[in-house]
Amino acid sequence: MKLQENADLRLHSTMRLGGRARWLAEAENEADVERLHDWAKQKNLRCLMIGQGSNIVWRDEGFDGLIIVNKIMGRVILAEDKSSVIIRVGGGEDWDGVVAWTVENGWSGIEFMSLVPGTAGAAPVQNVGAYGGEIADVLTELAALDTRSGSFGTIIAGACGFAYRDSRFKSQDKGRFMICNITLRLSKHPPQPPFYEALEQFFKQNSITDFTPATIRQAVIAIRTAKLPDPKKVANNGSFFTNPIVDSAAFEKIKSRYADVVGWPQPSGSVKLAAGWLVEKAGFKGVHDTETGMATWPAQSLVLVNETARTTADLLKFKEKIVNKVQEMFGVVLQQEPELLP
Ligand code: EPU
Repeated sequence: MKLQENADLRLHSTMRLGGRARWLAEAENEADVERLHDWAKQKNLRCLMIGQGSNIVWRDEGFDGLIIVNKIMGRVILAEDKSSVIIRVGGGEDWDGVVAWTVENGWSGIEFMSLVPGTAGAAPVQNVGAYGGEIADVLTELAALDTRSGSFGTIIAGACGFAYRDSRFKSQDKGRFMICNITLRLSKHPPQPPFYEALEQFFKQNSITDFTPATIRQAVIAIRTAKLPDPKKVANNGSFFTNPIVDSAAFEKIKSRYADVVGWPQPSGSVKLAAGWLVEKAGFKGVHDTETGMATWPAQSLVLVNETARTTADLLKFKEKIVNKVQEMFGVVLQQEPELLP
């Protein structure tokens, strides 16, 4: 385990902004995590675990503590029967690599989340979801170091506080747990329609009627690459805002002024609005903001892109412009989706 001092956090965020970390080290197993956590505790330093930084915005002030980069690998089959398989995956595994592996094996459950950037260990934090699937649907439990007690433990899915793009790891227990591995239950039966609208359209257009994890993965990859920038080439954090959920009265009010508003009714009676649509309507489709060096991605306005921004302050200034305009026009306050750390 090598400790790096004064590490550049821009290399640990796909938005490529932010300050420096006093210390940074990679953990390859649970023992490393424990040792590093103890070391930080002895020195009275704060300690945070991260994956690939695909959903992190670092503050310009940086982090005056220890960052542990999760590099815990491993993919094992824990149990299997005729209809399902239970797998355990190291938290440092590349998420899409895991998806590709499960699809090659013909297992269904996470193929909808193909090409989502980041690590397996980070996926439960924001309850990663795409094209009609989310990790809460398949996660059975995870193992984590509880920094409060200093010991490892298992947290079952029901205790993760999963909700749309949310979990206890992102809200009341933010920063408390270091997720070392996750356990998923996948199905050996092929996925069944109806699928997410964009997938249905893709299948129709391409005359695909054979629905397997592999054909779903191919479709998701085709749709995502057409709509979303590759974080390896373009600095971004994916969706920068969550889709806001408003009550039906607020939705009707918006609809009376904007008949083409995009919203999905929720079981609770409220309506989930398409944040991408709100951003677009507020005048931010394909904009390049010269003041901040930020832009929106032309094919998906929900994705903010760092073109020439130098600081997180630039990014937050651009974000404020969007949030303020959307609030002024629709009375809706957009919430940032990537975590602002520390
Ligand atoms: N829309 C617009 N303009 C836009 C973008 C979207 O009008 O610029 C409207 C369209 O009507 C479109 C609808 O919004 O049909 C939904 O768009 P899309 O299918 O792209 O989904 P989204 O709600 O904008 C969510 C996730 C994405 C995920 C897609 C596909 C959130 C915050 N984002 O976006 O996740 O890939 O669904 O399932 O829930 C991410 O989290 O980083 C991410 C990319």
